Amino acid sequence: MTVLTGRRVLLAVSGGIAAYKAADLTSKLVQAGVRLDVLLTAGAEQFLRPLTFEALTRRPVHTNLWEPWTEDSAGHVSLAADIDALIVAPATANVIARLALGLSDDLLGAVNLSTVAPLIIVPAMEHHMFHHPATQGHLGTLRERGATIVGPEQGRLASGAMGDGRMAAIESIVGALRQVLGRQATGPLAGRHIVVSAGGTQEPIDPVRGITNRSSGRMGYAIAQAAIDRGARVTLIAAPGERRPPFGADVVRITTAADLHAAVEAAVDDAAVLVMAAAVADFRPVGTAPAKIKKDRDDTVLNVALEPTTDILATIDRPGLLKVGFAAETERLVEHATGKLRRKGLGLIVANDAVQTIGAETSTATLIDRDGLAEELPTMTKEELAVRVLDRVEAILRSADEAGR
Ligand SMILES: Cc1cc2nc3c(=O)[nH]c(=O)nc-3n(C[C@H](O)[C@H](O)[C@H](O)COP(=O)(O)O)c2cc1C
Repeated sequence: MTVLTGRRVLLAVSGGIAAYKAADLTSKLVQAGVRLDVLLTAGAEQFLRPLTFEALTRRPVHTNLWEPWTEDSAGHVSLAADIDALIVAPATANVIARLALGLSDDLLGAVNLSTVAPLIIVPAMEHHMFHHPATQGHLGTLRERGATIVGPEQGRLASGAMGDGRMAAIESIVGALRQVLGRQATGPLAGRHIVVSAGGTQEPIDPVRGITNRSSGRMGYAIAQAAIDRGARVTLIAAPGERRPPFGADVVRITTAADLHAAVEAAVDDAAVLVMAAAVADFRPVGTAPAKIKKDRDDTVLNVALEPTTDILATIDRPGLLKVGFAAETERLVEHATGKLRRKGLGLIVANDAVQTIGAETSTATLIDRDGLAEELPTMTKEELAVRVLDRVEAILRSADEAGR
């Protein structure tokens, strides 16, 4: 179950060369449990046949404003009333202009004016077409009205030229949908600011070497995504890594534990929750060599003196801030994690086996709260664990809200 499960979405495909990618998007959304309807514009029908989408969704595909009204369906009016979100992907320059002007002489235009569902626009076109003041003006109008614009990305375009205009990655479009649906959430995280740290910090020894760890960042990124799914505003403080951040997160890139500390300090001001999922270096080299340390030295042993880094979770303290920590331990898990929770004034700690969990796809964790209650969870993916952690965060916020009332 995710924020996508069972949600009703209309995907409108318009007539750009990227229309072929809409079939992949359709497949991904259906696999994610979305109840997806597809609409093809006249232009899109030049590129693709409805059967492709009918086969992928097992639902009729909509192409015609003039399709007959029946007892069960009043054409564009029913389509418009029956959806949680409208995605236009790819969105041609023509469709973007038509939506901005509010034209309604085709099915997409009529649905657009008749629906109160949020609109996600995914532009895809040639570089100059995208940068034309007319297109930029129309996108500005749509953005002002609350539409979410996803992409476009830079890269090789259909013409062979390099530039702006490639349709955003499917992952980003699905991410935008998650954010838009998440904003409809009503739980205690909706509208609140959550700060999440992720990945392994790097402490430089010299300009090319450093001390780091095997953290993949997956846990923190999963927490950030799960919080966006619940309507939270998320700041993701990310250590180096290739992972694509969830759509909608404000991303702050850091390298060292000291960077992370400064970034957390700056971000938590108005935050309700701080989740420290990053694997932060406990020690760093006392100084960084200004030039690469050479191998052809006289001594056979290279001594690198280390000093402790600041304990960020213990240091950051703001009244009302719920702090959530992770304890990756190699022995006496619950005992060490409970000690950490108390020392650092945490509301919740996620304890897991350091060797099993760091860099892995799954985790076997125990959640321990301020009352010392330990909930042992079965092995699950980090995405599933993120949901369980946020369930507990919501419960803690809810009881704090009730106590404050
Ligand atoms: C081969 C071909 C590729 C095209 N690719 C794009 C495109 O990527 N983006 C775009 O905005 N328009 C593109 N166009 C122009 C649109 O197809 C044209 O504006 C059409 O009216 C759009 O129809 P629609 O808005 O009903 O989908 C392309 C046209 C052709 C012939």
